[in-house]
Amino acid sequence: MPDSPTQTAPRAAAPVPRLEIRNLRRQFDGVAVVDDVSLRVMPGQVTCLLGPSGCGKSTTLRMIAGVEMQDTGEIWVDGSLICDTVFRVPPERRAIGLMFQDFALFPHLSVAENVAFGLSGPREARRARVEELLGRVGLRRFIDAYPHSLSGGEQQRVALARALAPRPRIMLMDEPFSGLDNRLRDDIRDQTLEILKQEDAAVLLVTHEPDEAMRMADEIALMRAGRIVQQGAPYNIYNAPKDRDAVAFFSDINVIRGTVRGALTNTPFGQFLAPGVPDGAAVEIVIRPQHIKIDLDRGGRGPNPTVQDGVAARGEVMRARFMGSESLVEIRMDHDGSILKATVPNVFLPQPGKPLWLMIRRDRCFVFPVR
Ligand SMILES: Nc1ncnc2c1ncn2[C@@H]1O[C@H](COP(=O)(O)OP(=O)(O)OP(=O)(O)O)[C@@H](O)[C@H]1O
Ligand SMILES: [Mg+2]
Repeated sequence: MPDSPTQTAPRAAAPVPRLEIRNLRRQFDGVAVVDDVSLRVMPGQVTCLLGPSGCGKSTTLRMIAGVEMQDTGEIWVDGSLICDTVFRVPPERRAIGLMFQDFALFPHLSVAENVAFGLSGPREARRARVEELLGRVGLRRFIDAYPHSLSGGEQQRVALARALAPRPRIMLMDEPFSGLDNRLRDDIRDQTLEILKQEDAAVLLVTHEPDEAMRMADEIALMRAGRIVQQGAPYNIYNAPKDRDAVAFFSDINVIRGTVRGALTNTPFGQFLAPGVPDGAAVEIVIRPQHIKIDLDRGGRGPNPTVQDGVAARGEVMRARFMGSESLVEIRMDHDGSILKATVPNVFLPQPGKPLWLMIRRDRCFVFPVR
């Protein structure tokens, strides 16, 4: 019997990550600052290492760049080992571009010379690459200028062109936008992202700003105390966070505590599912301020909530503030005096003392066992 086409067709080779790190570890003074970190970045993909100050982001990047040595673990580029504990390709031969916060340009070199710094080969080809990149970052006219005559944002773009000039297979960026003012930063981030995508480099970008990670990343690796606690697309990390801290890293949170009976917990906001949590265990219901629903008091009674909204609980406005695109209302709850925060689009500035009824959207809250 002839083989079916599905048996004989050659299997598509699994895509090889541009950058892969396996079980990277680094200790300082007996403390693991990078603790068993593994991740993969494909060509043309941006992964953000996101986490609070001191969690080991820069140390991870420095090991990949080769300026810091890991205690254990491996670094692979395009399927080849470039560094483990015995074998080590030196930093200058790793085809890795670096852009760090203090991206100092060489002050005594012109913009063209700065960009050409890492280039080899014939003069014409080098010049063509410099012109191409300066064109791409919109700075062709500054080709013969010196760094001191450029603004911070312009210098940043020259630094990007310099890092990209030798066509690195991997770009490592450590808080590269943190020296720029807010308005400029958004523009430069977007431009940088577009250029990095065109170059097809694998990018590992370190930041401690969730907004920056959400804006730039195809994947976010959330780091805490030396470990990656969760990794995934921004949408998934935001909407399916692994624990309370992962929610809190991206926004303000409200926390309501409960105890589990029969995989349910009863609260003044109605019942919540707590699947797999044993009887008697404490849970936290975590909800972002923008997902609390507010309704007005109707002569001492609240609204009739839908199943999705559970039960409405009453509170009184403690404070309301206008934040620009939304208003933040803090409400003191009648049942336990706790304060919950709700944000409302546009202008909603009720007076202190005004009664309001709050509902917790079941589809937008997270229930976590208390560890
Ligand atoms: N050479 C070193 N010797 C001793 N401790 C170090 C060394 N380098 C880093 N550390 C420590 O390792 C921890 C992680 O540092 P790292 O620079 O990787 O943090 P980070 O996540 O980049 O933080 P930030 O967001 O503040 O830049 C910190 O507690 C730091 O003090
Ligand atoms: Mg750092």
